[in-house]
Amino acid sequence: MELLFYSLAGIIVIVVIAVSRKSIVAGMEARSDVKRENKPSNNEEGIEDITNENIEKTNEQVKIINQIDDLILIVDKFKNIKFFNNSAKKKFGENNLNKHVATLLRVPDLLQNIDLVLLKKETITMDLELSSPSFQFFKVHLFSGPTSYVDDPDSVVLFLKDLTDIIKAQRFKSDFVANVSHELKTPLVSIKGFLETISGHAKDDLEAQKKFIPIMLEQADRMESLIKDLLSLSRIELEEHIQPQDKVNLKEILSNVEDIHQKNLKSFEFKNNIKDDFFIKGDHEKLIEVFSNIIDNSIKYSEKNKKIEVNCGQGNGKVIGDSYTVSIKDNGIGIPTEQLPRITERFFRVDAAKSKKVGGTGLGMAIVKHIVNQHRGELEIKSETQRGTEIKVHFSKF
Ligand SMILES: Nc1ncnc2c1ncn2[C@@H]1O[C@H](COP(=O)(O)OP(=O)(O)O)[C@@H](O)[C@H]1O
Ligand SMILES: [Mg+2]
Repeated sequence: MELLFYSLAGIIVIVVIAVSRKSIVAGMEARSDVKRENKPSNNEEGIEDITNENIEKTNEQVKIINQIDDLILIVDKFKNIKFFNNSAKKKFGENNLNKHVATLLRVPDLLQNIDLVLLKKETITMDLELSSPSFQFFKVHLFSGPTSYVDDPDSVVLFLKDLTDIIKAQRFKSDFVANVSHELKTPLVSIKGFLETISGHAKDDLEAQKKFIPIMLEQADRMESLIKDLLSLSRIELEEHIQPQDKVNLKEILSNVEDIHQKNLKSFEFKNNIKDDFFIKGDHEKLIEVFSNIIDNSIKYSEKNKKIEVNCGQGNGKVIGDSYTVSIKDNGIGIPTEQLPRITERFFRVDAAKSKKVGGTGLGMAIVKHIVNQHRGELEIKSETQRGTEIKVHFSKF
């Protein structure tokens, strides 16, 4: 649907350029007609009027072309850039006039297609995928000049429609479905296997049943947590644009979270240092989910008897206006620096086997990120392997 919309928008802009191409040809023809017609009477004023009108028209068109999000480059027959609009300037930098197009887009198919357009004067549409410096995807329409912008019949217009965000979202969706299916399938296959065993050849084997039933229950729990986290994530995503407005006390929230994890926290040196009230705008239940997930990670990824500490104080300018910052610091296994940016990705785990063993779904930090975003807060993660992790969440004051 979105793709269709963008393709239509692309076609409209191409029509604008094509019309301006016609207008320059018509303009040129008109000018030569006028010249021919007026030569005997020597009417110079008439020529000037029409020429001025064309210049104005061209300026108007350049203005339009400079305001669109799509990238437009025009190259001559040597593939040197003769025109680029503002969006192309933003993408590739200021000083690219007269440079070879391959200095910006080193794509053999694109260069070949430019030759084809020059040769056959046909319009060609192609997909262009770039992987460096980051993933980018364009639908490229190439057609032959001249245009109002480059008055050369041996020029080629490259109209690049940036579809990076849409393609990324599509790939993200299909990756997500594949990940969910895989995560659900693994425990299901194991439950099915055990069921087949205890209802088949181990039908009367009480020992085997005693051994397998707890494993099956554990796998069923895993599926349940996964579905719970998935539902939570999709609910939060739907509401992400609505900032919660209740007056909530961070002290109360962290105290509730402590109660929830009380049993597990007994095996750690846990300290909640929040003694004062800290009021922010928020949703009590969702904030419990945030800090519950963060404390749950400190418990899961720290050895027994290690320190886990909770603090709250004045913020340090990470969010607009006066703010409070909650910090949860552990002395656990830590996260390698290069993995830190990926921690809030869905299903990302530093050590998948370890996470599964302790009942992780790989969705906890993705949920945290979305709820913090919904609160217009900011998440800060610092960690060092074997030393521990500190997660700070910044909120604007109520
Ligand atoms: N406090 C922490 N200490 C060490 N590693 C952590 C911590 N918090 C998160 N991680 C790492 O980040 C990954 C993603 O966290 P999360 O989204 O909560 O998923 P999981 O269900 O695996 O806990 C975890 O698998 C773990 O590798
Ligand atoms: Mg977790």
